[in-house]
Amino acid sequence: MTTAAQIIVLDAGGQYCHLIARKVRDLGVYSEVRASETPAAELAGARGLIISGGPNSVYDPASPTVDSAIFSSGARVLGICYGQQLMAHLLGGTVQLGVKGEYGLATFEMDGRGSALLAGVAGRQQIWMSHRDLVTAPPPGFAVLGSTATCAIAAMEAPARGLYAVQFHPEVAHTTRGREILSNFLFAICGCERDWDPRNRVPQIEDDIRRCVGNRNVFFFVSGGVDSTVACALCQRALGDGRVRGVYVDTGLMREGETDYVSRMPGLTVECAQEQFLSALAGVRDPERKRHIIGEEFVRVQERIIESRHLLDGHWILGQGTIYPDTIESGGTEKAAVIKTHHNRVPGIQRLMEAGRIVEPLRSYYKDEVREIGRELGLPAEVLDRHPFPGPGLAIRCLCSDSDGAVEATPEGYILPVHSVGVQGDSRSYAPVLCVESLDHERATELINRIAGVNRVIARVRSAAPLAEMRVRVSDLSAARIARLRHADAIVRRLSHESGFDGRIWQFPVVLIPLGTEAAPDSVVLRPIDSVDGMTAQSVSMPEALLDCMSSELLAAPGISGVFYDLTHKPPATIEWE
Ligand code: XMP
Repeated sequence: MTTAAQIIVLDAGGQYCHLIARKVRDLGVYSEVRASETPAAELAGARGLIISGGPNSVYDPASPTVDSAIFSSGARVLGICYGQQLMAHLLGGTVQLGVKGEYGLATFEMDGRGSALLAGVAGRQQIWMSHRDLVTAPPPGFAVLGSTATCAIAAMEAPARGLYAVQFHPEVAHTTRGREILSNFLFAICGCERDWDPRNRVPQIEDDIRRCVGNRNVFFFVSGGVDSTVACALCQRALGDGRVRGVYVDTGLMREGETDYVSRMPGLTVECAQEQFLSALAGVRDPERKRHIIGEEFVRVQERIIESRHLLDGHWILGQGTIYPDTIESGGTEKAAVIKTHHNRVPGIQRLMEAGRIVEPLRSYYKDEVREIGRELGLPAEVLDRHPFPGPGLAIRCLCSDSDGAVEATPEGYILPVHSVGVQGDSRSYAPVLCVESLDHERATELINRIAGVNRVIARVRSAAPLAEMRVRVSDLSAARIARLRHADAIVRRLSHESGFDGRIWQFPVVLIPLGTEAAPDSVVLRPIDSVDGMTAQSVSMPEALLDCMSSELLAAPGISGVFYDLTHKPPATIEWE
């Protein structure tokens, strides 16, 4: 028995599309994501539709659109960002092509009139903007609800027709009253009922597992992360321990102690594949190629295990910890611009899916829902509260370089010839890093907005030589550099755990960059961040004494000549550097 979605989020390609659906569920209302062009007739059961943001302009011929019949179908409609522009464009308003765009925090000035959408949200509000184009004239019959300094129509509505739109993003945590705005739409406007609590779903999930698996057994490729652990535990409960087996692939790209940690789990064996991964990655320096190769090697190892253990002889089925955002497409949504390629939907896995040999108990759930289900199952907090760790492992935290390069002095700081990935609006950027001397987040944000061609700002914490004397050298993903990063990561993890700092943050990537001296060619970048879901993130300060102790221990490690601190929020920089 599946729950019918009261709210359907129409995916216009925004990175935040899933965030909208998750926030709606968080308010107790079941919601799903569908392609934006889904015909109105297929959306008939929903009480409300939300058109997501997206990277396109309504004037691009290939840009996503919606079936205009949704605007008169009786469902209430909320357009967010691109969704507002699309609504304006399709209903006779004017959308102006933006040149520069507006990304980040803004102040929303509400106009005086009462609106059910903004009920209880009085006065000036902090909101989050991420757009290029903007609506300059609302469609006939629409009223403007408020503006920002650079956007005259930041919200609009035609309540008699059930149509509402906002240029800002109510789904992100930085829009302080966003939750209330969404809640107004769900309950006051759409009349939704509270029908969703993931903790009550466990018996249903177990039934679904038994139905899907039948009399076969299940094997999992476990990663040690929350999703595969919870999925495996659900299968063990549904089928009994004896029918569930796990294999953990040691890629050689894992953190210190990880293989020991995972191998303590019941019913699990470890497959050593370090050599295979390292040789496939030899000489590969491009971030996207690294990800692609790692994905392909995973599939090779998986296929080898499947074959050698006769796991597809009809008695076995593959279990996966896939969660909802992974199911539509890499990057999160069907049309989302690929910021980074995640590897859980590579062709080998797709073939197994097509053969009907996969059970994915968590495929309808978001990460925080998975944690709640895990708590309901009685799994220990130590497992559920683990910081996320990316599938491609240390490989994407070990930056390589094709060429030698000197740092470049500018009035604001040094530009390092090290490129990292960022996200601007809904597009990927790949740009050099600016290094400053002070650990000042506000100044870093100001610099990043001002200096073109830079998407990340780091501060020098401590170095063995003046920055001007350090340089980037040609470097690869060698076993020695991975070991160097693993050691640095272990130092950081130990000290943040002992001090309790790890409990106050969401994730703490440690990145190795090929910047240093001849004797010690690498440096370490600390990237502690706070986030709700990884979609947006804030760089977090750490206690001075901890930073002092951490940076001196890191600087004493062989091969390391500098310790830096990433001050950049997401956007514009992604959490990982690659
Ligand atoms: P970014 O760097 O895109 O990261 O801001 C957002 C979150 O996703 C994690 N991440 C990955 N996880 N496979 C994964 O399983 C991947 O390829 C991957 N890339 C990024 C990242 O650690 C952060 O939590």
